[in-house]
Amino acid sequence: MLQCDLLIRDINIASMNSNSNYGIIENGAIAVAESTIIWIGKGDAVPEINAKKTLSLPGKWVSPALIDCHTHIIFAGNRAWEFEDRLKGKSYQEISKSGGGIISTVNETRKSSSKHLLKLAKNRLDGLQKEGVGTVEIKSGYGLDLATERMMLEVAKKLENDQISIKKTFLGAHALPPEYAKKSDDYIKYVCEEVMPELHSLSLIDAVDAFCENIAFSNHHVEILFEKARSLDLPVKLHADQLSNSGGTELAASFGALSADHLEYTSQKGVEALAESGTVAVMLPGAFFMLNEKQKPPIDDFRKMSVPMAIATDCNPGSSPICSIRFAMSLAANLFHLTPEECLAGVTREAAKALGIESKGTLEIGKDADIAIWDINHPNELTYWIGINPLSNLIIAGKMI
Ligand code: NIG
Ligand code: FE
Repeated sequence: MLQCDLLIRDINIASMNSNSNYGIIENGAIAVAESTIIWIGKGDAVPEINAKKTLSLPGKWVSPALIDCHTHIIFAGNRAWEFEDRLKGKSYQEISKSGGGIISTVNETRKSSSKHLLKLAKNRLDGLQKEGVGTVEIKSGYGLDLATERMMLEVAKKLENDQISIKKTFLGAHALPPEYAKKSDDYIKYVCEEVMPELHSLSLIDAVDAFCENIAFSNHHVEILFEKARSLDLPVKLHADQLSNSGGTELAASFGALSADHLEYTSQKGVEALAESGTVAVMLPGAFFMLNEKQKPPIDDFRKMSVPMAIATDCNPGSSPICSIRFAMSLAANLFHLTPEECLAGVTREAAKALGIESKGTLEIGKDADIAIWDINHPNELTYWIGINPLSNLIIAGKMI
């Protein structure tokens, strides 16, 4: 007889284990031992099982716990004044070039303390968790010097506990800090020779990211950075082709990046490169929305070429002050015309791929028991409602939280 710690029964399951019809199992059951799913299927096919605890949840749905695969939730201050300036007609690029933008958040973050950053980030993380998120990727990139980048990644590490998994991404190449003005070659050298190796030796980096754009780093700089990451066996991801087409998508694909993110200006060649390398296209509709962009990512081409599409909040103080994964799903549907099923896959199965996590993102035997329980009649409601939280409960690593 099968032994398990938790048996959930009389539920409808959106397992997300296939890209047809949400991988739905109606009237299903899931058995969990410790932190792992050991059985999943139709309720009338449950094997003989000895469960320490049984939950019968008629009328409820379950899905994999959600994953936010691109955030910048650790920062001090905010940029509401820049938001006002943009409403009056200034562009994100103009603000950035005149000393605002990312650098103003860097100044605030450098002045801040680890304790204060932790408190601010916890609040943002709470917002995500309340909507059913069980895994969050967090980037550094508002320090741009060893001490502050380290402080940010240590805060990210402290945010991890048995209720939330954190992936830490090193984004030292986010912007050029003022002390390296006009010396971007030197800055990249500093990042590659001093910052990245040190943070890696402290086990603070799960992946390396960069901002490849005409207001940020060139393809050549990103190449040097990615070569260094490769030599340390660290996977890479890239902010690519957000505001202009610089060929960043092709560059990310050529390094076998886990993901290329934003992609509003990605060309057909870029789409083909992603398809070839298996790199996930991460849609960040919050930044598109907040910056009032017009050029949409080539969604139809991604579909045609079967490029996996993830969705994330991009929560950051400049271009996406959004701590709601469900709002990001709604924006992806309403602005980019992703289907509700693509939206749910984008914050579960495909988001797991974008982080290189094989044990999460779908409900299957052998996967982590990270399960969101919903008060809905169909999973398409998860992309439909705004301002109503249909989350009933969240199970992380087999434990109800
Ligand atoms: O993902 N593109 C670069 N990084 C962030 C914006 C950061 C900021 O403006 O503070 C993004 O959109
Ligand atoms: Fe970002």
